[in-house]
Amino acid sequence: MFQSVITPEMHYDDWAQHYDSDVKGWGYHAPDRIMGQLQSVLRYHPHRPAVLDVGIGTGLLSGKCRSVRKDCHITGIDVSSRMLDFCAQKQVADDLYQVDVEQDRFPFEEGRFDIVMAAGLMEHVGSISSALREMARVTKPGGLIAFTYIPSLSQLTREQLSKKLRPGRTPEGRFVLGDLNIYRHNPERVKTILGMAGAQQRYAERFVGYRTYVVVTVPYDLFVAQKL
Ligand SMILES: C[S@@+](CC[C@H](N)C(=O)[O-])C[C@H]1O[C@@H](n2cnc3c(N)ncnc32)[C@H](O)[C@@H]1O
Repeated sequence: MFQSVITPEMHYDDWAQHYDSDVKGWGYHAPDRIMGQLQSVLRYHPHRPAVLDVGIGTGLLSGKCRSVRKDCHITGIDVSSRMLDFCAQKQVADDLYQVDVEQDRFPFEEGRFDIVMAAGLMEHVGSISSALREMARVTKPGGLIAFTYIPSLSQLTREQLSKKLRPGRTPEGRFVLGDLNIYRHNPERVKTILGMAGAQQRYAERFVGYRTYVVVTVPYDLFVAQKL
C-alpha cells in the first residue's frame, strides 16, 4: 500500500501562504464550531483566561477567541514554522512555540491553561494518545478541552471517503489533500483516553467540516471535555 512520505510539517510549510484563502473557499468552519462552545466560558471568565491553541496554524481559531475576549492570553503551538510565521504576522497570539504533538512533551507545567483547544489538527496525528494526554495534563482542574477530529466511520462511508481523499489539485495546480496521510479516530477511544487522563466529556456533535475543490466532504466530530 502507498505510504505518504510527506509529513504534516512539509505539507503545512508549503501551504502556509495560501492556507487562509483556500480554507475560506472550502467553507471550513471548525474554528466557529469550537468557539460556539467556548464563547460564554471565555466571555464570563472571572480573570484573564489562559488559552492554549494546539496546531494553531495561521491563527484562525485564536483570532475568533481574541474577538470574543480581547484580554485572553493565547499561547499557540504548531509543528510548521511557516504557519507560525504567518500566525505571528497576524499578532493574534501572545506566545508561539514550535512543537510536534506526536513527539514532544508540551513545554508547559501541569494545569497552566483554562482552555485548551485544537481545530483541524487531529486528522494529521496518527497516534493521538500522547497529544490528548498532554492536552489534559496542561489544563487546569475545571478547565475545558475542545477539539475537532475526523471520526472513524462505517466501512461503506470509509471506502467512499478514501476514494475521495486521493491526491487532488486546486484549480491553480497545487496539491491540497491526499498527498499526506489523513487519520480518522474512534470516538469511543477519544473519550476513553481523555477519561483516563482525568477529563470528562461534556458535549459532542458531528458536522460537515468542509468541502474541498476536489469535492471531498469531510465530517468532523467536535468534542468538549472538562478536566476534573
Ligand atoms: C488544518 S490546520 C489547522 C490550523 C488552525 N487550527 C485552523 O483551524 O485554521 C492543521 C495544523 O496542525 C498542524 N500540525 C499538524 N501536525 C502537527 C503535529 N504533529 N504537531 C503540531 N502541529 C501539527 C499543522 O502544521 C497545521 O498548522
